[in-house]
Amino acid sequence: MNTKPVRHFLTLSDFTPVELHALIGRAIQLKAMWKRGETYEPLHLRTLAMIFEKSSTRTRVSFEAGMTQLGGHSMFLSPNDTQLGRGEPIEDSARVISRMVDVVMIRTFEQEKVELFAAHSRVPVINALTDKYHPCQLLADMMTWMEQRGLPNGKTVAWIGDGNNMCHSWMEAAKLFGFHLNVACPEGYDPDADVVAATAGSVTFFREPNEAVKGAEVVVTDTWASMGQEAEKKIREAAFAGYQVTTEMMQLATPDAIFMHCLPAYRGLEVAADVMDGAQSVVWDEAENRLHAQKALLEVLVCGFPAGTSDAA
Ligand code: CP
Ligand code: NVA
Repeated sequence: MNTKPVRHFLTLSDFTPVELHALIGRAIQLKAMWKRGETYEPLHLRTLAMIFEKSSTRTRVSFEAGMTQLGGHSMFLSPNDTQLGRGEPIEDSARVISRMVDVVMIRTFEQEKVELFAAHSRVPVINALTDKYHPCQLLADMMTWMEQRGLPNGKTVAWIGDGNNMCHSWMEAAKLFGFHLNVACPEGYDPDADVVAATAGSVTFFREPNEAVKGAEVVVTDTWASMGQEAEKKIREAAFAGYQVTTEMMQLATPDAIFMHCLPAYRGLEVAADVMDGAQSVVWDEAENRLHAQKALLEVLVCGFPAGTSDAA
């Protein structure tokens, strides 16, 4: 009987730096194999349950296509069509679903909900975005940055905009991958205090975005109104005036700086159209890499890290 504890991926810090580097290396390999047309189906007869309590384009398409490419199957579960939307306790749902599938992915509001599901699951659980974190996006983002510019150690990234779930995951990435993050948020939209405390030493805070981008090799932003904040859109647009990533702002970063955005992007709000669609933007590779990074994630969670790549194996 397999007595190894089940590994979950609820936040980037669930993996060690060694594991994260191994995972990204594996994602780069899987991408090359897929592009060469190689068939590789380690998840034959395996099932991924995908629970979505918020909208998605990239996350759903990449997990579903990824499972197909790995030889497995994926199952889309929305609260509208399952008992999850009718008040069945999350613990009971976890107990039942995890007796039938091999891995579960959840997109929801509260981080506590994915933690509760994981605590009652027999199989690995993946956080596919909560209000607190978006760790799957950071796997793709780190992969994209490393493909473009090599190892991140000692370099600087500028986060411009909301202190939201993506900002929190970039803060964790800074600590785990050994780069420095400059965060520029308007007053009242700062990241959560617990994430600030946990990443102290890796992150510097600014109010002035032009100060934060100086010397950055990566400039990254996200929507000013995340899912669930639709009613605050107008107030937020006023609060974030001056935080748009513009060509002039990009010129203050390093000459070969890249622009990243998890998407969906709103041109004319958090990013100017000429930056989004310009030569420094790597957003389409970043979106594609969701597929390759999550294939590597699914493989390690279901099959385990290859020997020697995990200090927690
Ligand atoms: N970046 C991201 O998670 O996109 P979706 O909301 O479309 O899944
Ligand atoms: N911060 C955004 C990310 C979308 C992928 C949101 O939570 O809506």
